[in-house]
Amino acid sequence: MSPDVEELLAAAKAVQMNAHAPYSHFRVGAAIRTASGRIFSGCNVENAAYPQGSCAEAGAISAMAAAGEREIVAVLTVCDGEAIGTCCGGCRQRIREFAKGDTPIYAAGPDGVRATFTLDGLLPNSFGPDHLTEFQH
Ligand code: THU
Repeated sequence: MSPDVEELLAAAKAVQMNAHAPYSHFRVGAAIRTASGRIFSGCNVENAAYPQGSCAEAGAISAMAAAGEREIVAVLTVCDGEAIGTCCGGCRQRIREFAKGDTPIYAAGPDGVRATFTLDGLLPNSFGPDHLTEFQH
C-alpha cells in the first residue's frame, strides 16, 4: 500500500472509533484526500429518529466543504466485519459532486484495504454538476 493510502487508512481508523452507532453497531470511518493534499475525516452518526442518521462519508465531505475545499482525489472507508464495506448509493452520489470518474475509492476492513474501486465503477453513467451547466445563467 502506498504511503498516501496508509495515511488515509490511519485517519479513517482513528475517526471510526468515534462513530455514534448505538442502533446498528456498525461503525464506519471515512477519510478523504483533497487536491491540496489535506485529509478530512468523518464517522457515521446515528439518531434515535433513525432516518436522521448520517454516513461517515457525509461527515467527511462536510468537514472538507467547511474548510473551503472542493476537490476530492481519493476516498477510503473502513468498517468491521467480513464483507467488503463499499459506500452506500447516497454517498457515491455525494462523492460524485466533488470527484472525477477515475477517483479511487478504497474499501478497508480491520486488516487493511480489501478492495479498490473508481467512482465510475461504483456509480456508472452518473448525474453530476456538468449536467446543469447549460441551464445556469
Ligand atoms: N454507513 C456509512 O457510514 N457509510 C456507508 O457508506 C454505508 C453505511 C453507516 C450508516 C449507518 O450508521 C450504518 O452504517 C449502518 O447502515
